Amino acid sequence: MLPVETKQLVRATWKLAKADSLTLTKRFYARLFELAPGVRPLFPDDLREQRRKLGASLDVVVTKLDDLSTVITELTRLAERHAGYGAEPEHYPVVGEALIGALQEQLGDAWTPEVEQAWVDVYGVASSVMIDAQRAVTA
Ligand code: HEM
Repeated sequence: MLPVETKQLVRATWKLAKADSLTLTKRFYARLFELAPGVRPLFPDDLREQRRKLGASLDVVVTKLDDLSTVITELTRLAERHAGYGAEPEHYPVVGEALIGALQEQLGDAWTPEVEQAWVDVYGVASSVMIDAQRAVTA
């Protein structure tokens, strides 16, 4: 279970960041493809739909932080689809780095070490659920 403070920090900063989710998701993909150019071919040329889905899935995770069992079911299905997209367990850390970097850039002064730790913890939980689920389907 995630501590209450972690959930509060993530909820509050997600609300700020998603006010301009288009900029946030553009920043995310720009960072991801700079950090890991090798994953670019896994994504469609036109990222518009992809950006919308990324915002929506973060929204699901953040909204349901108190009800992790529902999120776990959704993340497990999401991970099974990711196996088909060619995503590898090794890609999760770089996706996390791109996400944290994009949020930091977006939030400016609202970004503090505590906020960073909260997002690292939440991404850590979500990505480990997905990695375990992906390993289970590809094993
Ligand atoms: C916690 C981590 C992640 C979350 C929440 C997430 C979320 C999503 C969502 C919501 C979609 C839309 C399609 C669907 O719902 O099936 C998607 C698609 C996709 N994701 Fe992720 N993802 C994560 C990690 C990764 C990683 C590590 C990779 C590896 C590069 C990746 C690569 C892709 C690709 C290639 C697509 C499909 C593009 C397409 O053909 O439309 N994702 N992701």
